[in-house]
Amino acid sequence: MTTVAPSPHARVLSDAPDWWRQAVVYQVYPRSFADTNGDGLGDIPGITSRVPYLAELGVDAVWLSPFYPSDLADGGYDVADYRDVDPRLGTLADMDELIAQLHAHGIRVVVDIVPNHTSDKHAWFQEALEAGRGSAARERYIFREGTGPDGAEPPTDWVSVFGGAGWERVADGQWYFHNFDVSQPDLNWANPEVRADFVKTLRFWSDRGVDGFRIDVAHMLTKDLTEPLPSRAELEAMPIDGTHPLLDRDDVHEVYAEWRAVFNEYDPPRTAVAEAWVHPSRVPLYASAESLGQSFNFDLLEADFDAGQFRRIVADNLALAAESGSSTTWVLSNHDVVRHATRYGLPDAERGADGRPTLKHGNEWLLSGGRTPALDAERGERRARAAALFVLGLPGSAYLYQGEELGLHEVADIPDAERQDPTFFRSPGVDMGRDGCRVPLPWAASDAAFGFGAGGAHLPQPEWFARYAVDLQDQDPASTLALYRRALGLRHELQADEELSWVDAGSEGVVAFERPGGWVVVTNFGESAAPLPDGEILVSSRELDGGALPGETTVWLRRS
Ligand code: GLC
Ligand code: CA
Repeated sequence: MTTVAPSPHARVLSDAPDWWRQAVVYQVYPRSFADTNGDGLGDIPGITSRVPYLAELGVDAVWLSPFYPSDLADGGYDVADYRDVDPRLGTLADMDELIAQLHAHGIRVVVDIVPNHTSDKHAWFQEALEAGRGSAARERYIFREGTGPDGAEPPTDWVSVFGGAGWERVADGQWYFHNFDVSQPDLNWANPEVRADFVKTLRFWSDRGVDGFRIDVAHMLTKDLTEPLPSRAELEAMPIDGTHPLLDRDDVHEVYAEWRAVFNEYDPPRTAVAEAWVHPSRVPLYASAESLGQSFNFDLLEADFDAGQFRRIVADNLALAAESGSSTTWVLSNHDVVRHATRYGLPDAERGADGRPTLKHGNEWLLSGGRTPALDAERGERRARAAALFVLGLPGSAYLYQGEELGLHEVADIPDAERQDPTFFRSPGVDMGRDGCRVPLPWAASDAAFGFGAGGAHLPQPEWFARYAVDLQDQDPASTLALYRRALGLRHELQADEELSWVDAGSEGVVAFERPGGWVVVTNFGESAAPLPDGEILVSSRELDGGALPGETTVWLRRS
């Protein structure tokens, strides 16, 4: 058991049922946060030991990426048991202690639920393999006979999101479907037993004091597998309008309506946020109070540091949130994308006819080992600070990804032999995978593994991590960490209702808005200085020189 000294920054846990609407939620990737027993893997006691850090940072909630028993074929998103803790990360008692400490510091707890697939090490899948064709155990997954002579060809030509075939053959000749890695068999959501088991999981964690859930690939669970199954080309030609056989089906909300009833049994009601990669017009379905209640808005993950794009994204998502009655969510980085300090130091993304990046932004740079085109690291950080301060001024909730408060960059040069992400192995030469944003955090510049733990780090940390260490930034009032602390503190003081009105800043490259109480947020996306609106300066992402607003800078002001 880890004991944590009471922190001077502890706040009282708000018991308002809508605590989540404008919460700042800090995403912890447990295996890369803090390691207490020196095995190179971050663990639950490690997170507990850093609760005072999280309290001082000023976050309202912590979202824990999966910490369940797992083979780590997909960084823990291959869950072998939804109601336990990976023994390498700790015990259920450690989780209870973490929840208690977070609550004692006024911080809510959100855990990740992965309902589309289990790990192939899950007892259910092992049972399905043993029980054989036609068994009830196989009915929990998506097993089919193959095609061609001896059924040696897969049932269809469907592909996995991670690259390669979507079907895998088992010893007795049947095939199972996996949207992701081979080790992540998709569950059969038409099976009532599957539905009942997830309700049990939601109750299990809610009873332990967990306040909310992040729902992994929430748009993929239900499927129409009526024979004959369509081909890949046929699938791709079908509209994704609620009737598509595999994606964003209307009937998935029957599942969430049942979950909602469970969430509402608790006080305060448990919350949920959907990771749903769907057309914007369909986001309100997931965000509605009858369904999950909130849905991620990932638009900023794909945007350049550009005034027009940011302005449009804010307007669109506030309108969508109004449609569902929920609040929107701002995300600049997470465990699946190139860190935004790095994206913003690279040339703008190349875009297709639909305006979306043709490749994950920053991927080309990773593929070149981080050498071409050159990264302007300083510019990336400057813009990252400006973007963060912009986002933290917006109504809605803000999701921060561990390390962004340090201005941390993506690690490009992880040797192939040390990479872990299946997307790297399943699509060689196309995707470098997501390991570069999952490298263990630097806590102390001069300690072993930069203070992550005494036994090294499970992904290699580069030398330059020292510069970003928490202990150095702690001493430096101009550090990115100091900026985040100040912004989060002010946000608590200033934030009232969710209104926003645009302010004309007199220049295309400058975006400004006002929140109730005369709180003005202004960002200069351009490179040259612009006039600064009147008001008392509260915080700025870059040092101000005289009365101007420098390029690539955000300032918060208070109008009297
Ligand atoms: C989500 C997760 C990602 C994971 C995938 C499969 O997109 O964010 O990390 O690989 O689902 O579970
Ligand atoms: Ca450990």
